[in-house]
Amino acid sequence: MKLFEKGRIGNLEIKNRVVMAPMAVTIDPDGSLSERTVRYYEERAKGGVGMIITGYSSESEKYERSSCHKLDDFKKISRVNDLVQRAHAYGTKVCIQLGPGLGRIVYIDPNTPPYSASDVESYWTKGMKCIPLTKDDIKEIVRLIAFSASLAKRAGADAVELRTYGGYLADQFMSSLWNKRTDEYGGDLKGRMRFTLEMVEAIQNVCGKDFPLIIKYNPYHAIPGGRELPEGLEIAKMLEAAGVHALHLDKGCYDCWYNAITTVYQPDAHQIELAAAVKQVVNIPVIAQGKLQNPTVAEQVLAEGKTDFVGLGHQMIADPHWTNKVKAGKIQQIIPCIGCNQCLKYHFDGKFGNCSVNPMTCYEDIYKIVPTDCSKNLLVVGGGPGGMEAALIASERGHKVTLWEKEDQLGGLLLAAGAPDFKEPIKNYVKYLTRRIESSDVDVRLMEEATAEEILAGGFDQVIIATGARSLVPPVAGIDGENVYSSTDILLGNARVDSDHVVVVGGGLVGCETAVFLAQQGKDVTIVEMLADILATADHCDNNDQCLRKMISDSNVKIHAGTKVTAIHNDGIDIEKGGNKSSIPCGGVVLACGYKPNNELAKQLEDVIDIKIIGDSASPRKIIDAVQEGFHAGRLLD
Ligand SMILES: Cc1cc2nc3c(=O)[nH]c(=O)nc-3n(C[C@H](O)[C@H](O)[C@H](O)COP(=O)(O)OP(=O)(O)OC[C@H]3O[C@@H](n4cnc5c(N)ncnc54)[C@H](O)[C@@H]3O)c2cc1C
Ligand SMILES: Cc1cc2nc3c(=O)[nH]c(=O)nc-3n(C[C@H](O)[C@H](O)[C@H](O)COP(=O)(O)O)c2cc1C
Ligand code: SF4
Repeated sequence: MKLFEKGRIGNLEIKNRVVMAPMAVTIDPDGSLSERTVRYYEERAKGGVGMIITGYSSESEKYERSSCHKLDDFKKISRVNDLVQRAHAYGTKVCIQLGPGLGRIVYIDPNTPPYSASDVESYWTKGMKCIPLTKDDIKEIVRLIAFSASLAKRAGADAVELRTYGGYLADQFMSSLWNKRTDEYGGDLKGRMRFTLEMVEAIQNVCGKDFPLIIKYNPYHAIPGGRELPEGLEIAKMLEAAGVHALHLDKGCYDCWYNAITTVYQPDAHQIELAAAVKQVVNIPVIAQGKLQNPTVAEQVLAEGKTDFVGLGHQMIADPHWTNKVKAGKIQQIIPCIGCNQCLKYHFDGKFGNCSVNPMTCYEDIYKIVPTDCSKNLLVVGGGPGGMEAALIASERGHKVTLWEKEDQLGGLLLAAGAPDFKEPIKNYVKYLTRRIESSDVDVRLMEEATAEEILAGGFDQVIIATGARSLVPPVAGIDGENVYSSTDILLGNARVDSDHVVVVGGGLVGCETAVFLAQQGKDVTIVEMLADILATADHCDNNDQCLRKMISDSNVKIHAGTKVTAIHNDGIDIEKGGNKSSIPCGGVVLACGYKPNNELAKQLEDVIDIKIIGDSASPRKIIDAVQEGFHAGRLLD
């Protein structure tokens, strides 16, 4: 396989073509690589990846506060060296990513105007203008970045990557959208590239021209006024001419963040044509990324010569062993990333990383799955993600596990969540969990609806209640009409709206996705949401939010926010907004008004037998909550 051929970046030989994309997943308050962070990377090295590019390190906090690591001091060398040694033990190379700041994207301090190329608006704090860096500031940043690179080299790192992508500070200099300077750091492309090229030269001066230097940048911004591909290709040529050894390519910027940091909604290989275009104009290797985790796709893009290396971001968080599993043909054992960006949200919330589908991520040495010395007879009620995870972990530890699921298949609400084509990764996750259950010792009984009596008669030592949630039905006149459907039934195909005009009541995540699902079938869809905006309750990462909003607008779904449904009729609904009453004609009404815990069973049993309530049956939330709670229920069962 091409994936397992050796590759080269400058004089650096890499054992295969798989590169872990840089991801700031761990937050260490002292800015240094903690043992926990190093251990997280080490697990990825153990999993066979050819090279790890670390999440970005900043060169200093003089110009902006940062939640990331800092490589600014001689004393940091030992931690980087620890990482290098432990990765090298597995034959994995280490590249340290250095980033000269976020500029207008700084998000951790809403009260201080960020520095940027020009006095453009801060991305997060609307109305706040950035402070243009002076020429002396620029020179200082260049000097500090070079110092960081020299520390990385002294620590034994195999390469450094300069982060100039994504609309961050260096990209703010490189793009005419954000660079309005009239001095030699602005103007034409040569002027706008000066900052980046000075950093390249300064790194070469301290590390030597042979020390592998990679640049991550975006040949195409995918927003009006942003970089178009012809300029992106010019940049590639300038970087090659400057002696850069490889180009790591991305697409988009914060203003269309889902292009840069993939969400569940992007198709496979959604950035690959940019890499292919850049490869046409340079002779140095390129690293492509952007949902390349399907092994067939990863192999294909290499075989077609569209890229020299496959960069994997999210998938390395979800499954550190992707590379070895692919090499061994154990593709069915890969834990699939579901594109939820909970990992990214953790970072933006200031928390240490974790993953919806892999509770061990960032807890490699903290959570231990220890064989039990006191095997219990465990019943898990409910075969959604929470119940399945609990059953798997408990069974792996040696408990005798029975799982009752009232439906004729496993998956719970994920079957509805993954029903639209644009949620394919959720379907893959259900298949993965189901395969694991089937090859485990868990005794699964489908179409087995648990009652308190049956459970008590079963003689179980402990019961895990993972019965999920029930849809909320608002007390509105006409809600029982034949033209009213539940979003779950619509998504699962258990019901069909015959009319071409549909109103979805509720504009949370489920309502919005159901609206797009229906609009993609050619229906005229309107969302009615009581709160001031749609997706107010979704609690998901900004890139997922941006993408779903774009899908809603692209599919011409109409939105009535701040609007209450007061009655449902055969031919439409009555609404009220700010005291004004009106109607929307429609033939079908789909309810997506939220969920309440399905906890009757739990209430009947709680004082009678040892039970643990997990996931949506404790409180309706998300996959990560169900999986984590299932994992811990199985892990801690004693
Ligand atoms: C359309 C939709 C889209 C969603 N999208 C996302 C998303 O993108 N990201 C995200 O994080 N979350 C999403 N969610 C939420 C997510 O699906 C839930 O949080 C998650 O499924 C909860 O898992 P669970 O195991 O707790 O419960 P469930 O998945 O609800 O599983 C409960 C299971 O228990 C079974 N059961 C109930 N009572 C009994 C009984 N008495 N006996 C036997 N079996 C019983 C049910 O049949 C069901 O299979 C979405 C939900 C919906 C509806
Ligand atoms: C949690 C998280 C943190 C990230 N941090 C960085 C970073 O520090 N530097 C960087 O260049 N890219 C960062 N990225 C972007 C990834 O490197 C990669 O470009 C992106 O996820 C697309 O690749 P994928 O589809 O394989 O995930 C981050 C992505 C995620 C999910
Ligand atoms: S948290 Fe979600 S998006 Fe991030 S790696 Fe895990 S499954 Fe993928």
